[in-house]
This record gives sequence, structure tokens and C-alpha cells, in this order.
Amino acid sequence: MTATKTTAPDKAKPAPKDAIALLKADHEAVSQLFAEYEKTRSVPNKKALVAEICTALSVHAQIEEEIFYPAVKTALKDKLLVPEATVEHTSVKDLIAQLEGVEPDGEMYDAKVKVLSEYVKHHVREEQNEMFPKVKASSLDMVELGARMAARKDDLLAQAT
Ligand SMILES: [Fe+2]
Ligand SMILES: [Fe+2]
Repeated sequence: MTATKTTAPDKAKPAPKDAIALLKADHEAVSQLFAEYEKTRSVPNKKALVAEICTALSVHAQIEEEIFYPAVKTALKDKLLVPEATVEHTSVKDLIAQLEGVEPDGEMYDAKVKVLSEYVKHHVREEQNEMFPKVKASSLDMVELGARMAARKDDLLAQAT
């Protein structure tokens, strides 16, 4: 009865983001989850947060590796940033594998989450400070790339749940 504006934006369908906006929003979301982890002492909360972090990071890494990095590599004729980022993803995935499905069992678990957050922070800094500025200055179509990444992200998140 109160919905008078039929043109109000549909919350389920946010406006399309360009590729870099999408990736930055992912980075920010994961950083928030790590901050929440640091604040909680509850084992069920830790478990839920880590599950969310692992899914978010895995999906993010996959859309970067499948769509973003190959486009960047071609557009920038890059032989440095993308290979380095790909190696860093391997380290991140290795820690994710050590955390997934494991009970938050004390100091070693917390240590793994802490190291994962540090790897991610380092990696995000390199993407945002080194890779993204070069990508922005390139001829890549950020909106088209972002749309493809958003679609793939939706598919992967649907599979993960
Ligand atoms: Fe990455
Ligand atoms: Fe990223």
C-alpha cells in the first residue's frame, strides 16, 4: 500500500558496476569480514565468518583469474603484475584449503586467519595501487568486463550455496 514509487530501484538488481568498482567492493567486503573476525570470540561466529570469507575470496579469485587477469594481461601486454598476482592467489587458496571445514580450534586457527588476512591485504594493495591504475588508463571496456564478471560471480555464488 505504501509503495507509491514503481520506479524505485530493485534492490536485487544493483546498477551494473564497472570491473574495478566490482573488484574494489569485493575487497572492501572481505576486509569487513576479517575485521569482524578479529572482534568475535564466539566459535560459531568465527566458523560462519571464515566460511563467508573463504567463499567470497574463492569466487573473487576465480572471476579475476578467468576474466579480469587475462583481459589485463592482453591489454597491458603484462608479463609481471598478472603472473605475480596469480602466484599470490595460490598462497591465498592454500590457506583457504587449510581453513575450510575445520573447527575453529584455538590459536593455530586464529593464526591462519590472521595470516590469510595479511596475504589478502598485501595482494589487494598491489592490485589497487599498481594494477588498477594501469588498467584504468588502458583501452579496456570496464563496463563490459564488469558485466561479464558480475554474471560469472552470480553463477559461482549460486553454486557455492
Ligand atoms: Fe587478486
Ligand atoms: Fe582482487
